[in-house]
Amino acid sequence: MKYEFPKGFYWGAATSAHQVEGNNYNDWSEWEHANSARLAKEAQTHWQDWQKKKFPEMFEPENYISGRACDHYNRYEEDFGIAKSLGHNAHRFSIEWSRIEPEEGKFDEKEIEHYRKVIKALRARGLEPFVTLWHWTLPIWLAEKGGWLNKNAPKYFERYVSKIVASFSDVKFWITLNEPAVYTSLGTIKGTQPPGNKSIFKAARTRANLIKAQKSAYNAIHSISDSALVGVGNSANFFIPYKNKIYNKILAKIISYLEGGFFKKIKKNIDYVAFQYYRSIEMGFRLGGNFLGIIENNLDTGGERTDLGWKIYPEGIYHFLKNLQKYNKPIYITENGLADAKDEKREKFIKEHLYWVHKAIKDGVDVKGYFHWSLIDNFEFVEIRGFWPRFGLVEVDFKTQERKIRPSAYEYAKICKNNKLEI
Ligand code: BGC
Repeated sequence: MKYEFPKGFYWGAATSAHQVEGNNYNDWSEWEHANSARLAKEAQTHWQDWQKKKFPEMFEPENYISGRACDHYNRYEEDFGIAKSLGHNAHRFSIEWSRIEPEEGKFDEKEIEHYRKVIKALRARGLEPFVTLWHWTLPIWLAEKGGWLNKNAPKYFERYVSKIVASFSDVKFWITLNEPAVYTSLGTIKGTQPPGNKSIFKAARTRANLIKAQKSAYNAIHSISDSALVGVGNSANFFIPYKNKIYNKILAKIISYLEGGFFKKIKKNIDYVAFQYYRSIEMGFRLGGNFLGIIENNLDTGGERTDLGWKIYPEGIYHFLKNLQKYNKPIYITENGLADAKDEKREKFIKEHLYWVHKAIKDGVDVKGYFHWSLIDNFEFVEIRGFWPRFGLVEVDFKTQERKIRPSAYEYAKICKNNKLEI
């Protein structure tokens, strides 16, 4: 069967600065140094046996220090060359705030020049840039002032955003914030990633400031550029009620509602939907242990799993896309991917997700692009998993920095080049 995508569809992959660039100095790099030994120790109890056996790197503290990462800061031309050879016509990356404004109110023109070259390198290869302005990391000076807890944080963000947008006025697609809801829940409620708080009050303040930041950044961008389009990276898990019990159905509905809450607050201040999808999670009450447990990584619930134990559920993307249709805005899938070091599941994963994306388009949803996460293996961010989860279309040897294109990347390339999925 052949599934043709609309003309002008954007095909690409995504990265974020701190995960690929190397040698960043920000609140995450500080946190990594302070917590790497603890994270290496906790890996003993956190993971399943098969994961521990397959990825012994998880017991090394260095796994949790981003350090040189993929040295993409120096190798972006090589990496974009690979993306072009794989038929991509767009690429999503992020600008590192801590490089641009290492001291409060002082912009580093050399770093602005660096990103100017990055954008030029993309354009020279026919790759449309989708530029994320904030992908979770903060400059140290801002972190010291409390980061997103500071009441002036939205103003600081607006100042940085205005500087960047004025400097790169030819960029059309901006993503102001990446997954603000995930950042808030993992960083300020669960505390498993920077800033590492466990406080509902701090979460509420962070959330309120992020919402404010989005509104003011949106207005600022439009006052500077006529052609800019602004989105917010918004991810969602597809919650499946555990054992299909009625009370778990209700619970799953409530959790989905809460998960979508941030999006509803900013829906007027976006020009397009930047949607990110990875997996489904069993959701339910269980007896013993926790009273209320999110049953994830729990293999007795079956299904195909990624190296991180995430359950693969391609159909989920269709339901989200259909649901997003009511906002009447174009949709770009700005992340979708899996940790799969051996590249055993990636081809099928991509094809099955794209099958459901295509079905959504056929059923009237205005999806205009797809970005696989990620172009290259990198420093996995969510709850600081580090280097062992391999999300890349391209494998990276972190010792030699050698790049090796994975077989699935060639399969994805066929789809990109033909603007068509064949299965
Ligand atoms: C984040 C990425 C991350 C990916 C895989 C997304 O939520 O935006 O930074 O690497 O998920 O976990």
